[in-house]
Amino acid sequence: MVKTTATLAALAVSAAAWPTVMQQDALLKRAASTGRLNTGVGHPNPQFNAQDQYVDVTDGGPNPFRSPGASDLRGQCPGLNAAANHGFLPRNGKATIQQTVDGLGKAYNMDAGLAIGLAAIAIIISGDIPSGTWSIGGGFLSTLPLLLSNPKGIAGTHNKYENDASIVRGDAYLNNGDVGVVQWHSWNNLMQLAEGGLTLDETTAQSNYVTHYSLDNNPYAFWGPFSGLVAPAAHQFVANFMSNHSAEQPGGFLSADVLKSFFAISGTGAGASGDNPGDYVHNRGQERIPLNWYRRPSGDQYSLADVVLDLLAGATIYPDTVRIGGNTGTTNSFTGVDVGDLTGGVFNGATLLQGNNLVCFAFRAAQAGGVDQLDGVLGTIGNLLAPITSQLNGVLGGLSCPQLSDFNSQLFDIFPGYSE
Ligand code: HEM
Ligand SMILES: *[C@@H]1O[C@H](CO)[C@@H](O)[C@H](O)[C@H]1NC(C)=O
Repeated sequence: MVKTTATLAALAVSAAAWPTVMQQDALLKRAASTGRLNTGVGHPNPQFNAQDQYVDVTDGGPNPFRSPGASDLRGQCPGLNAAANHGFLPRNGKATIQQTVDGLGKAYNMDAGLAIGLAAIAIIISGDIPSGTWSIGGGFLSTLPLLLSNPKGIAGTHNKYENDASIVRGDAYLNNGDVGVVQWHSWNNLMQLAEGGLTLDETTAQSNYVTHYSLDNNPYAFWGPFSGLVAPAAHQFVANFMSNHSAEQPGGFLSADVLKSFFAISGTGAGASGDNPGDYVHNRGQERIPLNWYRRPSGDQYSLADVVLDLLAGATIYPDTVRIGGNTGTTNSFTGVDVGDLTGGVFNGATLLQGNNLVCFAFRAAQAGGVDQLDGVLGTIGNLLAPITSQLNGVLGGLSCPQLSDFNSQLFDIFPGYSE
């Protein structure tokens, strides 16, 4: 583990990777007037290079598709399932931070800082801390079973990592806790938007659609301080990571067929509308990267700063897509959480969407939200966590995020979807 940490330290994102407030404003203004390419608001001039961008997933190549075996873990994230089904992540569905950085870099050109950030949170809230391993699906056995509880995997992180208002999957409360079920009305809406190619702005329209669906139909709908941002960010991931690239469209083009491959949905859509799937079938766990597919350019890797930029750009078009709080037991009863009260005044609602406050807030909140495996034993072995948090701090390092001394999670008690 020590060795891994040293390697990763070299990758730690420099302050220069974060746009200044002025640069951010300029990018957002430009996006508002011209729309965004599928490479994201921060990447308006991508160049195509076939050799650099081709992802070889042929049967004879290094990353052929294989259906997961009975003991391989898979979850509700199509990007991770597809990466594991092609061996970019270990096929058993369990990865270290280094494996996440390498695999998601190769498959999607995800930037190392973003991969470290997402994997570190996954370990902290649902992974095995001593081995620095996390699961893209369900739980697995702890490496220190006498001391530490078994890690739950990201599939078991409702309201912490996994959230309501997902792009195609259903809300926990509306599906007896199973958050892996495709909602056909969501999928059908997405397929309609994808006619002629799905753009980044259209994935935000989908985010707006599913957000309102949850508000209107789920009395327990809830958006946590970290997970509530993961769900809209995952919408932006669809355009940014799943699009195919070419000389004609270096900014990427995302067809319905490519979406079906990544989401493991087959069929033509004949007879589909509303909640009716028609001939669509969801083949759980069979997510695959299409043949002949070209990822985003290596010169335009997608970073944590890009996630924030695209969330903000999305929220300028559809302000309802970024929220923290929930319904209070009846539909359409959304009440927001006061971010100032939540954080002892360190952050506040008026400035949350300015500068880098959002990313600082989200990652501090994710850490404050509770270290799953350490329930009750933090004092004894708290320093096992140090290598993980130090990598996270490396990623956020350039930002000098304020420390949170208070995190008043009892403010969430009024939301039945929080304690559910
Ligand atoms: C370390 C990297 C990643 C982690 C830890 C991660 C984690 C997650 C989690 C926890 C969810 C559930 C959120 C929700 O409830 O909506 C999710 C959903 C999702 N993720 Fe990922 N993800 C990662 C990378 C990716 C990549 C590379 C892609 C795209 C290629 C992607 C695309 C998506 C999509 C589209 C969803 C929504 C699924 C649905 O509603 O059906 N993710 N991811
Ligand atoms: C990606 O784009 C290239 C160039 O236009 C095309 O040949 C290829 O079939 C496309 N791949 C997919 C999976 O659509």
